[in-house]
Amino acid sequence: MLKNKNVIVGVSGGIAAYKAADLVSRLKKQHANVDVIMTENAAKFISPLTFQTLAINPVYVDMFAEPKHFDVEHISLAKKADVFIIAPATANIIGKIANGIADDLLTTTIMATTSKVIFAPAMNTNMYLNPIVQKNMSYLKELGYEFIEPGTGLLACQDYGPGRMAEPADIVEHIIQSFVKKDLEGKKIVVTAGPTIEPLDPVRYVTNHSSGKMGYSIAKVAKDRGAEVVLITGPTHLEPPKGVRVVRVNTTLDMFDAVEKEFDSCQVLIKAAAPLDFRPDKVSDVKIKKDDGENDQLNIRYIKNPDIAEYFGRIKEDRIVVGFAAETDNLIDYAKKKLKKKNLDFIVANNILKEGAGFKGDTNIVTIIDKDENIIDYPVMDKDKVAQLILDKVKYILDTKS
Ligand code: PMT
Repeated sequence: MLKNKNVIVGVSGGIAAYKAADLVSRLKKQHANVDVIMTENAAKFISPLTFQTLAINPVYVDMFAEPKHFDVEHISLAKKADVFIIAPATANIIGKIANGIADDLLTTTIMATTSKVIFAPAMNTNMYLNPIVQKNMSYLKELGYEFIEPGTGLLACQDYGPGRMAEPADIVEHIIQSFVKKDLEGKKIVVTAGPTIEPLDPVRYVTNHSSGKMGYSIAKVAKDRGAEVVLITGPTHLEPPKGVRVVRVNTTLDMFDAVEKEFDSCQVLIKAAAPLDFRPDKVSDVKIKKDDGENDQLNIRYIKNPDIAEYFGRIKEDRIVVGFAAETDNLIDYAKKKLKKKNLDFIVANNILKEGAGFKGDTNIVTIIDKDENIIDYPVMDKDKVAQLILDKVKYILDTKS
């Protein structure tokens, strides 16, 4: 996600400096090019060697040290930065930047950069709540500096309250988000995900293998790209992406009702869910007993559920409706038929028997077929990448409609 991005990590002198090592390691795992600048106080908490080893780059501490390149370092680092993250950001460094003080390599470089600068404050609760620190932070926010709010909890000083540096994973996510194009801002996108379940009795139900991963990826990527996202999800074990509105449903009829509530106000409906096509015509109020059947057989009659994609595809007007086709054979033929029958803008076909495609895994292999019968096959990809492709196509259609 951060390939070819230059991230400068500024480490100031607080006990949370040890967490900055984890941050650098996580940034490297995202393929960022990381340079670390430490204050002299930070180097008392954690060795520059730790950062040098994790970043696979020299670490900068002393303004007047022998230069590592034939460059004025604070200027070359400032220019190189695609994003600058100060983690931990102490009350001292926040105060210095807010008041225009540049008296070491870190503060000088922050002052010289034109890149986005993000602070991850970490300090004692009383320091954090001190009106001077609060005023400095408000002023910096007004100037366009970003802050990742600290967490609340037991601090190293044994006080309890706000001041604990945000988790490195959340800081990395924030940095990734700062590079994502927000090209779906102002659009409401409804995504359905996961299986539905149809109860037989209070104990048993029928369902399918959908894990929800494909739909959750679409919801996350759409939200990252600035859309207002409603995720209508059947039962899954997944943690919903932050910042999306989640509507939980069980049966296909529930899913239908949930889509109906959101449809009028949306511009896009993406049906990645695998709703059950049939439901038992009767749901027993009590547990069905082993001996309830005849001749060692239990016969259950199933009746048809509504086809959600088809219903909303037919009444969509200028909305975009995207469907999926989960097939085991004749992928393209069946997908084309579904595309037409459900009046979809395009369909994402996946052969669920192929290794790397379909249910449960983190990858999918899809063929996208649009209304004009343009057919594009894609290789195996992470479901997040498939989600990007789908939303690129949605964005293209939105743009050509307007
Ligand atoms: O959830 P994962 O484990 O990540 O797996 C992903 C997936 C395989 C579930 C996903 O990629 C996928 O193919 N979803 C559609 C599954 C499905 O129900 O396919 P279908 O060919 O039976 O249905 C065609 C379309 O009609 C789908 O968009 C489906 O959501 C929709 N449909 C189906 C039945 C129904 N009663 N109402 C519907 O809206």
